[in-house]
Amino acid sequence: METKFFSKDEIAAAVALLAKGELVAFPTETVYGLGALATNETAVKNVYRAKGRPSDNPLIVTVSDAKMMAQYAQEVPESALKLIKHFWPGPLTLLLFVKPGALPDAVTGGLKTAAFRCPDDALTHDLIAQLGAPIVGPSANTSTKPSPTTATHVYHDLKGKIAGIIDGGETEVGLESTIIDLSVEQPVVLRPGKITPAELSAVLGERVLVNTGQVTDQAVPKAPGMKYRHYAPSAPVIVVDNAADFKQLTLSASVGVIALDAVLAALSMPERNQYGLGRDLVDADHRLFDGLRYFDDRPEIKQIYVQGFNEGEASLAYMNRLNKASANHHYEGATNEQ
Ligand code: TXA
Ligand code: MG
Repeated sequence: METKFFSKDEIAAAVALLAKGELVAFPTETVYGLGALATNETAVKNVYRAKGRPSDNPLIVTVSDAKMMAQYAQEVPESALKLIKHFWPGPLTLLLFVKPGALPDAVTGGLKTAAFRCPDDALTHDLIAQLGAPIVGPSANTSTKPSPTTATHVYHDLKGKIAGIIDGGETEVGLESTIIDLSVEQPVVLRPGKITPAELSAVLGERVLVNTGQVTDQAVPKAPGMKYRHYAPSAPVIVVDNAADFKQLTLSASVGVIALDAVLAALSMPERNQYGLGRDLVDADHRLFDGLRYFDDRPEIKQIYVQGFNEGEASLAYMNRLNKASANHHYEGATNEQ
């Protein structure tokens, strides 16, 4: 299959493909999603196939607005209304009970809930509004790889497997949406994102818990995706929590370093073995996944050191993704590592 690129002026062609049950990747403010008509079971199953995604890991349901969501959610509780008013469209996904039979089991993995998301992206809004039905929207990467933040990343992973990619340039946030579970007594963040637990608590007027499910493959976490290996580049990753420690590393030609620009400037190593995260944590969120992909297809790179951040809730999402990419491997000093 030829994978076509569409510009933002060519939405109608993408809508026609989606309506026929084809797969089309689309931009959002967080990462690129892999779209398929959510009400078409065959199309949804093809999403799992294209991504190589385990079938027990349900898909996000992407809607153009809260009205569309209400057609598929069993009920929209007061807490959801508050969050929608404040954060939609935006990088917040709501886990709600789904109307029985409204969506194929392949979307929800047979669960009683569905994850609803309304991206802050005009192009995606128009795409779904013109289609008149939700699209599933998992990140448009091959399973286990970092989520795509450019159309080129999507093409790298899915060329020949999907009908099209709408190119909306680089995504803005760079890390996937915050997921909050509203199907339980007390709201719980299942995946941290740009919108922090404190911001959610402030709007809800109650404390929001965080459970990112550090679990083994045997356990069943609340967000099934949290148990799988994820965000993994070709070479193993080690987190460097203390930026000063970069100076202790032996930076040979087989080592890649991903850190803030100022940290890299203080190291002497070949430019092609460095990836700059920019000036601050916001830049680092935006660039992390591109950085994790930067050293792929470079067989000489055997190890990647990535800067960690310890900025409380602000760095929760970044560290959640980095801990997965590294399987929680943190640098513990020269004697332990070399
Ligand atoms: O920012 C985002 O959310 C991106 C963009 C493309 O919208 N999408 C995204 O989708 O990250 P995905 O499929 O890569 O991650 C969705 C996560 C998975 O961990 C999945 O297990 C969880 O949401 N999830 C989906 N439906 C669920 C459900 N009914 N119950 C619990 N977890 C669910
Ligand atoms: Mg994903």
